[in-house]
Amino acid sequence: MLKLNKQKGESMQIEVRNLSFAYTQRLILNNISFSLDQGDFLTLVGKNGTGKSTLIKCLIKILKVPEGTIFFEGIDINVLKLLQNIGYVPQKVEFSYEFPITPSEILSSAYLKGKDDYYTKIINTLGINPFYRDNVNNLSGGQFQKVMIARALLNQPKLLILDEPTVGIDNESIQSLYEILENLKEQKVTIIISTHDTEFSKNLSDYYLELNEVGDYRIYK
Ligand SMILES: Nc1ncnc2c1ncn2[C@@H]1O[C@H](COP(=O)(O)OP(=O)(O)O)[C@@H](O)[C@H]1O
Ligand SMILES: [Mg+2]
Repeated sequence: MLKLNKQKGESMQIEVRNLSFAYTQRLILNNISFSLDQGDFLTLVGKNGTGKSTLIKCLIKILKVPEGTIFFEGIDINVLKLLQNIGYVPQKVEFSYEFPITPSEILSSAYLKGKDDYYTKIINTLGINPFYRDNVNNLSGGQFQKVMIARALLNQPKLLILDEPTVGIDNESIQSLYEILENLKEQKVTIIISTHDTEFSKNLSDYYLELNEVGDYRIYK
């Protein structure tokens, strides 16, 4: 949860302390602070361009943040060489493969243990078999999304971050995504999603963090 009165010695899975971020002059994130415990579900909301993806990219080190602003399990992410146990599903529009590659290739290279039970279970649960050997560039939005979710889950994440996961996918896929997230939440995976679909996240969310145009934010339940 987003505890403002942290008790001494209590372990926090994620802590953001006074994070500000600007690409150029304009501040996108203005002095943001929050923390999440293992198993919390946070939904990022705010109009397009308010910085949801930017905040996510700071958390997964795609963007560089100052020392002392983001901590995972008490460790400054700047000193972490590798982000372990983190799954990331990028916003669809921001991601494409420039060359022909199949879900089979993407997923097997993301999981070095081979086709064990865990691997097979993820492929089956997400219904990836029908397009397992197709070129990813020919997949529908929902199919591609499922591949990205499978890839993230193969990391056995303690933290799963999804950037606008319901955009451009059909209702049936949204429903199966919902069930997957519900299940992961029960298993105490920490989840951060950005979405405009607050109906989707209503029953999953423990907290909302709303960003606005001037870089400010508010947190609510
Ligand atoms: N790489 C970049 N360089 C400069 N400005 C950027 C870059 N990426 C995003 N922005 C700007 O930062 C603001 C926040 O973008 P973004 O985090 O993508 O918002 P959201 O995900 O909420 O739609 C927007 O004004 C966007 O144009
Ligand atoms: Mg975005």
